[in-house]
Amino acid sequence: MVKLGVNIDHVATLRQARREKEPDPVWAAVLCELAGCHSIVVHLREDRRHINERDLRLLRSTVKVKLNLEMSIAKEIVDIACEIKPDQATLVPERREEITTEGGLDVIAYFSSIKEVVERMHREEIMVSLFIDPIESQIKKAKEAHAEFIELHTGAYANAQNEVERERELMRLIQATQVAKGMGLRVNAGHGLNYLNVRNIAKIPGIEELNIGHAIISRAVFVGLERAVKEMLELLK
Ligand code: PXP
Repeated sequence: MVKLGVNIDHVATLRQARREKEPDPVWAAVLCELAGCHSIVVHLREDRRHINERDLRLLRSTVKVKLNLEMSIAKEIVDIACEIKPDQATLVPERREEITTEGGLDVIAYFSSIKEVVERMHREEIMVSLFIDPIESQIKKAKEAHAEFIELHTGAYANAQNEVERERELMRLIQATQVAKGMGLRVNAGHGLNYLNVRNIAKIPGIEELNIGHAIISRAVFVGLERAVKEMLELLK
C-alpha cells in the first residue's frame, strides 16, 4: 500500500489567522500519527506564514514517524534544517507572493545550488527529495544531483478541467514514475490530491508515498482529524 504523509501546515495557518496559540500543529501531528499516517510534513516558509521554528523544534522531538520538511534552498532555511535534522528534506521552489507551491523545482536551471544543498543534507544524514514536474529531463537532473527521492507534482492532474486532460496528466505521472524507478530513484507524489482524485494516483505502481495537506485539514474541520486521516488511508488501500 502506498504510504500517507500528512501536511499539517494549514493547522498553523488557522493559528496564524489570530496570532494565537491554537490550534497547535504539534497536537495535530500527534492525532495524525495515532490515526496511522506514515509521515508528518511541514513547510517552513521564508515568510513564516504558518509553520515556525518553534513548531519544527517541537515536532522534531515529538514526531515518531518520518518528519519531512519542505523547504526552499535559501541559506537561512538550509541552516535551520541542518540544525534541526528532519528525517527528510523535500526541496521546493518558493515565491513569496504565491498562495501555495506553484510549480516543480527547476533542477536544470538551479542544478549547482540544488546539488550543493543535497550534499549538505547528506552530510547531516538527511534524506533528500526534489519536488519536480513529471518531465524526464528534470528527473535525470534529480538523479545527477544525488537525491534519493523525487516527489512528482500532481497539481496539473488535480487541476485538469476535463476527463481527457486528467487522463493525459495521469499518463504523464505513470510514465515519469517508470522513468524515475528505472534510474533507481524512489518516487513520492503530491499537491492538490483529495478524497475524490487520489485513487488513480494511489494505484500507480512504484509510487511510495503521497503527501496530502489541504484536503485532509479541510475535512478535519467537519469530521475531526483522526477520522479525516483514516478515511484517506482507506482510499489508499
Ligand atoms: N507536496 C508538496 C511538495 C507541497 O509543497 C505541498 C503543499 O505544501 C503538498 C505536497 C500538499 O499539497 P496539498 O495541500 O494541496 O495537499
